[in-house]
Amino acid sequence: MTAAQLANQFRHHFGHRQHLYGVLLDELADDLEAGGPTAAICAEHLDAPRGDAVQLRLLAGIFRIVLRGEAPRLEPFYPSLGGQADPEQAWPEVRPALGQHVAELQRALDLAPQTNEVGRSACLAVGLFEAVRRTGLRRVRLLEPGASAGLNLLVDRYRMVGPGWSWGPADSELVLDTQASGVRPEELTIVERRGCDLAPVDASSADGATYLTSFVWPFDLARHARLAAALEIARRHPVTVDRAPASAWLAEQLAQPADDGVLTVVWQSITEQYWPLSEQQAVAATIDQGRARMPLVHVAMEGVPPKQMAGSYDIAEHGPSTTVDGDLVARSHHHGPPVLLR
Ligand SMILES: C[S@@+](CC[C@H](N)C(=O)[O-])C[C@H]1O[C@@H](n2cnc3c(N)ncnc32)[C@H](O)[C@@H]1O
Repeated sequence: MTAAQLANQFRHHFGHRQHLYGVLLDELADDLEAGGPTAAICAEHLDAPRGDAVQLRLLAGIFRIVLRGEAPRLEPFYPSLGGQADPEQAWPEVRPALGQHVAELQRALDLAPQTNEVGRSACLAVGLFEAVRRTGLRRVRLLEPGASAGLNLLVDRYRMVGPGWSWGPADSELVLDTQASGVRPEELTIVERRGCDLAPVDASSADGATYLTSFVWPFDLARHARLAAALEIARRHPVTVDRAPASAWLAEQLAQPADDGVLTVVWQSITEQYWPLSEQQAVAATIDQGRARMPLVHVAMEGVPPKQMAGSYDIAEHGPSTTVDGDLVARSHHHGPPVLLR
């Protein structure tokens, strides 16, 4: 790819200048073509596949510098940091910051976007209630392949609410309004929890928290509020996420049966689309083999949403499905609420 082609990829990502990132991608594209600091940052990535979304990696790298407090003149442009300045005024402040951090931003282009969306706990909890109802077992060992930082493993530390029901600690910093009618919450205790990921993030560390935060668009205030609350909880209650591929890790975990009377729940969200077919098949086989040896339920929230066009995203039709041992129990937005029971 030439610099001009990569610049066009930047410009077409949003295709408008209605928010900070739309403005920045336009300006970064011009700077890339003009041989400015953006050209030096992207020099080794001109041939990156379009799917790598180099432009999102760059925006996240810039956001990390701002989050660390190293570019205070940019903070007024980031709504999640309380900024309200006009995005159209941002570029004269951003350009010098790029020049001061060329090496770091070059490295940022090697890092695939990494999110951990706690809104998905709302869907997974609905599946967990169903798993408890089906088995009558209320002590749970929770295992999560593709867990990222493991924030959804802390589900029982979050408050869930919906019309006529609630679940979880009343004083939790994180309250998820599921908007789900008809949910029947169950009493349960998570006695053990553990996850794996190819690229786990330590949510209890400052760097890990900054890393996860940098991939959430700065004008998506609801997601930032959810993530900040979950990170606060994770700092007090760190979870273990092993660096391992899903199938090998799950086989190892299930080789050790849980204590008598403990239900093993394997759960996952928006990760299977990234697994090679062999991984998908191996995980399914491992779960099936595990069922023969222990009470085990598989809860999955999975689905690839269609490219979102304004107003055309119908959750009931396109939203990811939450399944319990393959049975559809809910659909939702791909970030979680609203949750529709099926
Ligand atoms: C979109 S994130 C979702 C993370 C988390 N489950 C959530 O819902 O917030 C997908 C995650 O799957 C992980 N992943 C991709 N392939 C994997 C594999 N073969 N084994 C384990 N994790 C994998 C990625 O590293 C990434 O953290």
